[in-house]
Amino acid sequence: MRVIIEPDYATMSKWAANYVANRIIEANPTVEKPFVLGCPTGSSPLGLYRELIQMNKEGKISFQNVITFNMDEYVNLPEEHPESYHSFMWNNFFSHIDIKPENVHILNGNARDLKKECEDYEKAILAAGGIDLFMGGIGPDGHLAFNEPGSSLSSRTRIKTLTTDTIHANSRFFEGNLALVPKQALTVGIGTVMDAKEVLLVCNGHNKARALKHCIDGDISHKWTSSMLQMHPHAIVVCDEAACDELSVGTYKYYLDKERGNL
Ligand code: GLP
Repeated sequence: MRVIIEPDYATMSKWAANYVANRIIEANPTVEKPFVLGCPTGSSPLGLYRELIQMNKEGKISFQNVITFNMDEYVNLPEEHPESYHSFMWNNFFSHIDIKPENVHILNGNARDLKKECEDYEKAILAAGGIDLFMGGIGPDGHLAFNEPGSSLSSRTRIKTLTTDTIHANSRFFEGNLALVPKQALTVGIGTVMDAKEVLLVCNGHNKARALKHCIDGDISHKWTSSMLQMHPHAIVVCDEAACDELSVGTYKYYLDKERGNL
């Protein structure tokens, strides 16, 4: 695993956006061979999306031949609800870039047959040639997408019931009202993320310090599902200083020195 420690949220977002942009440019995607990008929601990737939008507007990068698959979506929340992940993605990213709407894939949490919706999603990812780069965030309880503590580390796309921790954390988007937060979501599995050729997580703020510690400095455990990335051959975590508050001094120094070329 590669760990990039940046001073703050702005530099973390810039680093991540440059990495994603370079990957897409290097792949030189075409209609026949598009680049397949996995997309997260949440506040962590907002800066990264803003940077990518800026690069797209400046003509430095194009999304014309990029296909996206989102990580997750709430169950039974109308697509047009301002807090649905459909709304989030179009408002914060897709509406501002030159992506073709037919290349965007987001799970349908209102599908009549949710199990089939999840199975079809896995098939669609395979049909697209697999995910080249899965971007992601980390929940305060260490979850990746909506793979809550206790999720199988080989799970595929499926329905998950949210933990009380997550319902509390996400209530900030629902007027602070726990009753308004959906209790279930469709989510790609840890196995789905692990199949991506590369994974890039962004993690910022002191409230993520415990999760980051378990992700990179702890044992692999279904209690902290993002820790499974330790098994991925090409995983990168980009974080800010505040998120490092609970890393061991040795781990913190090692990653800083490594990226500065001191080792
Ligand atoms: C939600 C999403 C996750 C995201 C997490 C953290 O639960 N399903 O994919 O990583 O929130 O969100 P934030 O970045 O707002 O802290």
